[in-house]
Amino acid sequence: MFNIGIRMKEVLEKGQPGSEITVMGWVRTFRNNQFIALNDGSTNTNLQVVAELGKFDDSLLKRITTGAALKVSGKLVESPGKGQHVELKANTIEILGDSDPEKYPLQPKKHSLEFLREIAHLRFRTNTFASVFRVRNTVAFAIHKFFNEKGFVYLHAPIITASDAEGAGETFHVTNFDLENVPRTPDGKVDYKEDFFGRHANLTVSGQLEAELGATALGNVYTFGPTFRAENSNTTRHLAEFWMIEPEMAFYDLEDNMNLAEEFIKYIISYTLENCKEDMAFLDARLTDEEKTKPQQERSEMGLVEKLQFVLSHTFERVSYTEAIDILKNCNYNKKKKFKYPVNEWGIDLQSEHERYLVEKHFKKPVILYNYPKGIKAFYMRSNEDGKTVAAMDILVPGIGEIVGGSQREERLDNLEQRMKEMNVPVDEMYWYLDLRRFGTVPHSGFGLGFERVVQFVTGMTNIRDVIPFPRYPKSVEF
Ligand code: 4AD
Ligand code: MG
Repeated sequence: MFNIGIRMKEVLEKGQPGSEITVMGWVRTFRNNQFIALNDGSTNTNLQVVAELGKFDDSLLKRITTGAALKVSGKLVESPGKGQHVELKANTIEILGDSDPEKYPLQPKKHSLEFLREIAHLRFRTNTFASVFRVRNTVAFAIHKFFNEKGFVYLHAPIITASDAEGAGETFHVTNFDLENVPRTPDGKVDYKEDFFGRHANLTVSGQLEAELGATALGNVYTFGPTFRAENSNTTRHLAEFWMIEPEMAFYDLEDNMNLAEEFIKYIISYTLENCKEDMAFLDARLTDEEKTKPQQERSEMGLVEKLQFVLSHTFERVSYTEAIDILKNCNYNKKKKFKYPVNEWGIDLQSEHERYLVEKHFKKPVILYNYPKGIKAFYMRSNEDGKTVAAMDILVPGIGEIVGGSQREERLDNLEQRMKEMNVPVDEMYWYLDLRRFGTVPHSGFGLGFERVVQFVTGMTNIRDVIPFPRYPKSVEF
């Protein structure tokens, strides 16, 4: 058996001086031919391993280089040095894997996030990324725990579908055609009948429509899986492959939906603060350092943990789209023409600069915007009595903007069919979706939370590419 080691987090938290242990990990630094800072990924705090002078061969010591993997056995002793209460006095040191210091790209110094993105296969070995990915794991666990405690059923929506749920035409095709020799119909069009599925298929952009099918039988369900969008957005908030959580609830109206979404986001934050104290303290300090490089007026007023605690202790501001437009239209920012897209009429789609103005400058806390104009929202949203708006809601948070998009769904068959026709959504193909409205239709609602956006919010990372292990975006599919 190889795995006879103990994880360093446990050693550092409760290791007893005098005990004999074995640890395995990667060398961060090696000082004075004596002190090895060893890390095994369980915590950012390295375990200090002491290789007493004269005890080990020079040929072995030469191989203890940054990045090398070691197995060390020895006795835990009280540490005379600062920063740790115990250290490991090595008895045996085994090199599991060498690392050529001339070629290893990670040096014991600060590297830029941009540089680390280029070596994403190694960036897990830095403190920042190790913290980010441990927090990402905790956020995922909190999500399942939240829904499990509420009796929701975790439903796996398909990854390959024939529908474009959002109707935005930003899908990736799925085919096994030989692209050099695609079968054609007599009139020259691509003959999808010959394709693997016998019709055109794509990667899912959202599991919502399938979640609706589940919710109207099981009551409350949620999906949590990858979604794919071929939108050509090179921003710090967009990925071509991202994970989304989509709860869908029967017998919920828009207000019930907003209440659940707010409770959900707060649960994720408080669970993570409670269970990732060390990583959150590290990320907080990291962000404070990063902020120092910015001009004074661009720095945020609060630290990361302080900001999250502020979010927990305040209710989200609920504002209708119409009220939001009034605020934006009349604000000095707009009057002084500081928006790239000026706000002058009801009905425009809000740009991220508008969303961020509302949360960061005006309300200074998370905002739920609801009742959007029907012209800028998807076909499935429920029409309001005014005939102009739909029962949609978006949640906007400081630093990011939209983090949640959701709505009450149109449960009335006639209304839905009419909207589908108006918006060129194929009514016949979607018979299964309409069947829900034919057989025991009920009011129901749901929303989608962008997983990477919530991880960004919790970790304070500026770029979404730094919170997913291997980001996919235009012209980038490395690793
Ligand atoms: O607002 P969206 O497009 O809503 C839906 O897909 C609905 N079907 C959800 C529902 O009602 N069940 O996307 C939901 C969220 C956004 O608020 C955002 O957080 C995230 O998904 N998102 C993205 N995250 C990263 N990269 C992208 N390209 C994203 N597009 C949306
Ligand atoms: Mg949206």
